[in-house]
Amino acid sequence: MKFFLDTANLDQIREANDLGVLDGVTTNPSLMAKEGISGVENCNKHYVDICNLVPGGDISAEVIATEYEEMIKEGTELHRLHPQIVVKVPCIADGIKAIKYFSDHGIRTNCTLVFSMGQALLAAKAGATYVSPFVGRLDDISSNGMDLVANIVEMYRYYGFKTQVLAASIRHTQHIIECLNAGADVATCPLAAIKGLLKHPLTDSGLKQFLEDHKKAAQNK
Ligand code: E4P
Repeated sequence: MKFFLDTANLDQIREANDLGVLDGVTTNPSLMAKEGISGVENCNKHYVDICNLVPGGDISAEVIATEYEEMIKEGTELHRLHPQIVVKVPCIADGIKAIKYFSDHGIRTNCTLVFSMGQALLAAKAGATYVSPFVGRLDDISSNGMDLVANIVEMYRYYGFKTQVLAASIRHTQHIIECLNAGADVATCPLAAIKGLLKHPLTDSGLKQFLEDHKKAAQNK
């Protein structure tokens, strides 16, 4: 399973990439706004900065347009910024049409804001590179987000769709473990959730004991 970081924060991206396990980054307009980045030029520069921080990683940059022609224009510009850019497109009718256009023109896409099997089916039929079911936001309304991930994985395998399932809106470490069980191709996570994978009290107490024993042996020499 690939790990993407779900942020536009350059320090966090640097830190996750330094761990050596980062495969990409997903951004969205809210995450960009959180970093105080606005305006086409600033956003585009920021996307290129992210690409350069994660060599070879897939970097999702979302279109703001909601109408087909504008989506094509904006998505093509984003695609031309850097070879690592994946154009993120919302799962609405014009978005599905745009994904089909991008797919026919060799431009990689991430179909975002997916909350149902029907939406995931349309994204795959249009040729999306990634589909992003939003786990946490479904959990927030008492619907099981991880079940949706597992069901999409099963549907794509059964019908042979090439679209990769990118579990999004991951809120905590246990979600990442559940993504493994669901067979997700990618999980896009907050940095804290990735760091949480490392935590185990037996690792901490075991390491403490090892170091104490090593020190004692050296003193008894
Ligand atoms: C990913 O592509 C989405 O932008 C993101 O995971 C949304 O997460 P949230 O529901 O925590 O805002």
